[in-house]
Amino acid sequence: MSSHFKFILCEPKKPVRESLSKMLNSMGDLFLESECSSYLALDEALQASIPDLVVIGIDEDLPQALAMIRKIRAQTPSVAVMAVSSRNDGQTILDTMRAGAKEFLTSPVEMSDLAQAIPRLCDGRTKTSGPATSSGVIAVAGVTGGVGATSLAVNIAAHLAQTPSHSVALVDLDLSVGDADIFLDCIPEYTLIDVASNVSRLDLSLLKKSMTRHESGVYLLPRPVSLLDNEIITPDNIGRVLSVLRSAFTHLVIDTSKSYSPVDLVALNFADHIVLVTQLDLPCLRNVVRLLMSFDEYHGLKEKVKIVVNRSNLQSNQISIKKAEETIGQECYWQIPNEYATMAAVRNNGVPLVMQAPLANITQSVIGLTNSLFHVTGPENVVEVAAAGGGARKQWLGFLSRK
Ligand SMILES: Nc1ncnc2c1ncn2[C@@H]1O[C@H](COP(=O)(O)OP(=O)(O)OP(=O)(O)O)[C@@H](O)[C@H]1O
Ligand SMILES: [Mg+2]
Repeated sequence: MSSHFKFILCEPKKPVRESLSKMLNSMGDLFLESECSSYLALDEALQASIPDLVVIGIDEDLPQALAMIRKIRAQTPSVAVMAVSSRNDGQTILDTMRAGAKEFLTSPVEMSDLAQAIPRLCDGRTKTSGPATSSGVIAVAGVTGGVGATSLAVNIAAHLAQTPSHSVALVDLDLSVGDADIFLDCIPEYTLIDVASNVSRLDLSLLKKSMTRHESGVYLLPRPVSLLDNEIITPDNIGRVLSVLRSAFTHLVIDTSKSYSPVDLVALNFADHIVLVTQLDLPCLRNVVRLLMSFDEYHGLKEKVKIVVNRSNLQSNQISIKKAEETIGQECYWQIPNEYATMAAVRNNGVPLVMQAPLANITQSVIGLTNSLFHVTGPENVVEVAAAGGGARKQWLGFLSRK
């Protein structure tokens, strides 16, 4: 998903580091993950996250720098290393290349040298490091209050985070009354406001530090604390926040608000999938139809919608899937069963389904939905929804009269 190559810059000499940082940051495809002023700090940064590229100044302590390059090559061979030095004697260059550096640039580095070296390092590499992984952005949107949108968003994110190669962020865009933090039982230090206000200054490590990591592995970006702060979140800065997050994480799950505000619409446009959560009752289905009609006004929005029926077996006399699909004019993508006790425990304990009740039917259903969205497994995980006629578009008024 990432459209950037993540890099870590390590240069103990401050002026050289600043100059390199400026040049590297001005290169479109590169994203600074962290800046280290010592080889020890580089070692620590590499424990926290694996970049695509390490740029290392070797003059401060050549033996230590070479040992560090050897370690990177041995432990994370996918990481490309570029060494920078004011020494250009043959022996230093040879030793550095033998340690495992792929490029050697002589300091002071010229922009033109970097512009030639970076594509050589990055060519043929995928733009995210680590093992191959599915990736993407899902917006989870409820068609009315209380349909289970947050439950789904949190639990999709928690399931995604179980795969070690994934890094997952959950953004609570329900700015006024969002409760994703409750579902994850955490008291975040920072909120969306902190990230949105500083978005142009954030590097990846700072971004991750601004987010709360839940023990499931999910990084949470919660809604603002005060209602008065909501106006700080604008369509413009939320777009930039989401772009930065997309660079930093393999998966982004966005819990949108029910107001379908301009900020929500930015998120819906940004997403690869829109999970539209409904239940099988009249007010919900009427809203599904209304929302799909409205999405039709925006280029490419409706095509991304996956209708997910939550609490599908809530009541025996509820509207059937077949009737719902006829009314909506679109197939329902997935059904999540009603399991009140399990969901109540999840919410009250602040522990996601995959941790609280991994074997429950509802957990398996959320896992199946997530895997299907990200093509993690084959269609055998797809829970078949009742067969539907499908063709009857925009007939909700007829449906109302049938009721
Ligand atoms: N499949 C389910 N089975 C039983 N209960 C569920 C299910 N999904 C959600 N719930 C319950 O429904 C309630 C509302 O869920 P949730 O808060 O996720 O909805 P929401 O759409 O995010 O609501 P809001 O409009 O407040 O944002 C919660 O008590 C939750 O435990
Ligand atoms: Mg909610």
